[in-house]
Formats: sequence, C-alpha cells, structure tokens
Amino acid sequence: MSKIEELISEIKKLKKEKNAIILGHNYMDYGVQLVSDFTGDSYDLAVKAMKTNSDVIVFAGVYFMAEQAAALNQDKKVLSPDPNAGCSLSDSLDAETLLKYKKMYPDAPVVLYINTSIHAKALADYIVTSSTAVKVVSSLDSDVILFGPDANLANYVEKKTGKKLVKVPPNGRCIVHASYTRQIVRLARKKYPNALLMAHPESPLEVLEEADFVGSTNQMINFAKESQAKEFIVATELGMINALQIQVPGKTFYPLLTTEACACARCPYMAMITLEKVLRSLREEVYEVMVPHDVAERAKRAFENTMSLLSRK
Ligand code: 13P
Ligand code: SF4
Repeated sequence: MSKIEELISEIKKLKKEKNAIILGHNYMDYGVQLVSDFTGDSYDLAVKAMKTNSDVIVFAGVYFMAEQAAALNQDKKVLSPDPNAGCSLSDSLDAETLLKYKKMYPDAPVVLYINTSIHAKALADYIVTSSTAVKVVSSLDSDVILFGPDANLANYVEKKTGKKLVKVPPNGRCIVHASYTRQIVRLARKKYPNALLMAHPESPLEVLEEADFVGSTNQMINFAKESQAKEFIVATELGMINALQIQVPGKTFYPLLTTEACACARCPYMAMITLEKVLRSLREEVYEVMVPHDVAERAKRAFENTMSLLSRK
C-alpha cells in the first residue's frame, strides 16, 4: 500500500467510527478530494453542512468556510484541519470597518461574499457566493447597496445587474484571481486554440470579458460536463483541475496559470490542508471551530435570508 492509500484507508476507518463526514472544497489536493464525502463550491458545501446528520464535520477548506459550517450547525462538532488557512479576501474586511460603512449608509442593505469572517457576516443582511451574488443583488430594491469584500466580484455584479455598488473595502482582492490579465488569457488562447475559457468571477473584468463561461467552481464543472467541447482553459485556482479531472473524465483541462509561471497560481491557504492534517483532525478531533452563539445566529440569519430570497425567484 502506498503512503497515500494508507492515509486514505485510515481516514475512512475513522470517519465510520466517529460518524464523521469530510466536506472538501473543489480546490483541494487530489487525495483530499478523493477522501471527501462531498466536494463542491462554497454555496454547495454550506448547504451540505446544514443537511448532514453526522456528529462531526471535518471542513477541508479554508477557515472562513469551516466557520460558516460551524455557525450553521451549532449542535455539531466542526473541525478545521488547519485554522491558519486564511484567505486574502476574508482578511481584507473586519467587523469594525464594516460597522463604519453601515453608519455612513444606514439604510443600505449589506451583501457580503461568503469569503468573509463570521464576525463581519453577523453584520450582513445577505451572504452570497459567486453562484448567487448576481441573483441576490438584482432582486434588491435599494439604490444604495453595500457589497464586499471582493472588488472584482462587485465589478462583475455591477456589469450583470446594471446597479452601482458601494465596495467595502474599495479594493478587496483574491491573491490568485487578481493576478490574471487579458494578456495571460490571450497567450493561453494561442497555445490551446481549440479550448473554451472558463473564468471565476473573482477575476478582473478584462479577463471575464474574454471568457466563454463565467461561474463558480461547481458551475464550471457543470458547464464542462454539458459542453460539446473537449478542451478547456481554466481561469481559477490550480486545485480546480483535480476536481475537473475527477468529475469530468475524458476531457482535457489546462490551468490558465501554472506554478512554474507564477507561484500565485496555487492558493497558499488552500494548499495548507493536506491529507496528513485531515487525518490528524479526525483522530485528535482538532481544531474545533467555536463561534459565539449570538454571532452564529446573526450570520445564519443572513445566510437564510439569501436562501429564502433565491427560493422565491
Ligand atoms: P467558489 O467555490 O464558491 O466558486 O469560490 C471560490 C473560492 O475562491 C473559494 O475560496
Ligand atoms: Fe481566498 Fe483566493 Fe484562496 Fe479562495 S483562492 S481562499 S478567495 S485567497
């Protein structure tokens, strides 16, 4: 048995013993995706966390995702394999800054991208993901809407909805997607002339304008499955190639950027979640994600507001 097979078999055994599930983001390493009970995008995993009957949830993703799962499941033990796995977007907006904006625009609804700390989420009216942001913003009546922390996603939402957003903060960025440019896209197009380009809305508008498809990581998987095309350039974090290869066999996926071209191609935070850490997390039941009850309740309400708004559409 190889080292990876040993780790996977030990993880599977412990999952049964502890009535645990592993939720894995689409950007995880290949082995972590194989051992996950569910893989998905931020929205999908948040919903899965609400529906599970397991006693323990190991969240194989970055910390804000584990916090979100903990807020939605206060009766369950939610574990993060590495609580230092942060996110440049989440780090760009704290609750104090958001409070200042709320004071400046007291009547404006607050729409926050899920890549935010739980304390900021507790001050929001709606929590959106890359797959729900356009729908939520387009259904809001207000002329003034606070939106954060991703300025690129905000630009995309403005373009799709025709609404003007107050960006909170003005320049929040994902360190991976913000490094893509039109020039990089054009070079990739030249190299792979038969491939369609799929891009994540955390990318700059000049990249999204070049794309054949814009969507969340799950929406990309569905697009690749349904498309007649056989080759795709993937403008999102490098781990996504694992998810596509596992879920869409028989098609070819080229990352827009590789780590040879730029270290920024792989999210350093996502890369912190390894199979070894997932095993330790399950075995020692570390690190439990604790969210104060009142904060969890307020963040949960903002998430549920989005779900009920989407179900009315
Ligand atoms: P989605 O999986 O929701 O598309 O988000 C991508 C991301 O950057 C998560 O950190
Ligand atoms: Fe945050 Fe970007 Fe990493 Fe996603 S890929 S966790 S948005 S830094």
